[in-house]
Amino acid sequence: MAHALAQLLTADADRVLWVRESGLAPELLAEYAGALNGACPGRWDVLELKGGEALKRWDAMPHLFDAFQAHGLTRSSLVLTCGGGALSDAVGLAAAVWKRGVRVAHMPTTSLAMVDAAWGGKTGINWRGSKNQLGTFTLPEFVHLDARWLVTLPDRERRAGLAEVAKHAMLHAHLGQTHLEDWPAWDTSPDALEAWTAKLEKSARSKMSVVDADLHERDARAQLNLGHTVGHAVEAHFAATAHPWLHGEAVALGLKFVLFQAQDRAAEACLFLDRWLATHVPLPDTPLAQWPDAEALWSHMAHDKKNVADQVVDVAWHGWGKAEWPVMLEKSAFEATWARFVRSLEDAGTT
Ligand SMILES: NC(=O)c1ccc[n+]([C@@H]2O[C@H](COP(=O)([O-])OP(=O)(O)OC[C@H]3O[C@@H](n4cnc5c(N)ncnc54)[C@H](O)[C@@H]3O)[C@@H](O)[C@H]2O)c1
Ligand SMILES: [Zn+2]
Repeated sequence: MAHALAQLLTADADRVLWVRESGLAPELLAEYAGALNGACPGRWDVLELKGGEALKRWDAMPHLFDAFQAHGLTRSSLVLTCGGGALSDAVGLAAAVWKRGVRVAHMPTTSLAMVDAAWGGKTGINWRGSKNQLGTFTLPEFVHLDARWLVTLPDRERRAGLAEVAKHAMLHAHLGQTHLEDWPAWDTSPDALEAWTAKLEKSARSKMSVVDADLHERDARAQLNLGHTVGHAVEAHFAATAHPWLHGEAVALGLKFVLFQAQDRAAEACLFLDRWLATHVPLPDTPLAQWPDAEALWSHMAHDKKNVADQVVDVAWHGWGKAEWPVMLEKSAFEATWARFVRSLEDAGTT
C-alpha cells in the first residue's frame, strides 16, 4: 500500500509537506514515512494538526499559511494531506491559494473522505455558520486510498460514510445493487481491509466519471446532490442540538426520503436500498418527536447555495443509474410528503 503511494509521488516536487491529523495509527505513519523517504528526492516535512470541522474556519488558515511559508513551499512543492474530509477541504483550500496554487494530493483516513470528500476537487471552509461558503475547484494530483486507516476510526463515523457509497451505486447502473450486495463485512484482517479499499475506490471512481464531465457543477455534477437537499437540512437542524447527526447519517435519511418519493417506492430496488441503508448506516436514536418538522427543514433548504432564485432545487431518482435534475420543489408539496414520510417511519417503528 505504502509502495503504491511512493509510485504516485511526483519526482519533480522540490519539497513535500505531509499535513496530517493527530491520532492516526503510528505503525501506518511509520510505513508511509518510509515510503516518503524512498520516493522524495527533495525534502519532506510533517505538519500535524487536530482534525475535524474546527479546521474549516477562517482563523485556522493563518496557521496553515505560516507553516507553508516556514517550510518554504513553492509552486513546485506538493502538499500531501492525511485525514478526514474536514482536513482535506481546509488544507486543499490553503494549498489552492498559496502562491496562487501549490499542488495537493490526498490520503484520506475516514470512509467519507475515501469515497467522496478527497475526490473531485471541491475545497472549502465555512463562513459565519454556513458550510463551505469559501472554496475553490482544485483537483488533487492524486488520491491514495488505504482502508487500514479506518481501523482507528469510530464505528459510527465509518458507517456514516457508507451513505455516499449507496448514493454512488444509485447513480451508476454499473455499480447498482451488486456493488452494495457484495459489500465486505467489517473486520480488520488484511484481506477484509484490502477488499474495503478496492470497493471504496470503485465507488469513488464512479464519482470521478461525473466530475470529469462537469468539474464546476454547471450540470451533470448536480446529480451528486442526490439525498443531500433534505440531508443537509437535517444535518443543519441537528447541528444546533445536543445530539448532532453526522453528515452521512443525515444523507442516509435524505436518501430514504428520495426512495419514498420514487414513483414506484415498492419496487425491488427501493426496498433493497432501504434495507441496505438501515443495516449499514443506522440512524441516531433521536426520538421522532425531536425531528425537525417540514417547516423547519424548508427554512434550511431555502438557504441552500445550490438553489436558483426562490425555488429549492432537488434531484429525483427513478432506478439504478436514473437520476433526474433539476427538480424544482414546492413548499406545500414538500411539507405534505415529509409528513407522510415521517408517519410511514412511525408506522414501521423505525425509531
Ligand atoms: N470536498 C468535498 O467534495 C466534500 C464531500 C463531502 C464532504 N465534505 C466535507 O468533509 C467533512 C466531513 O468529512 P469526514 O466525515 O471525514 O469528517 P472529519 O474530517 O470531521 O473526521 C471525522 C472525525 O474523525 C477523526 N478522524 C479522521 N480520521 C481518523 C482515523 N483514521 N482514526 C480516528 N479518527 C479519525 C477526525 O479528526 C474527526 O474528529 C465535512 O466538512 C464536509 O463538508 C467535502
Ligand atoms: Zn455528502
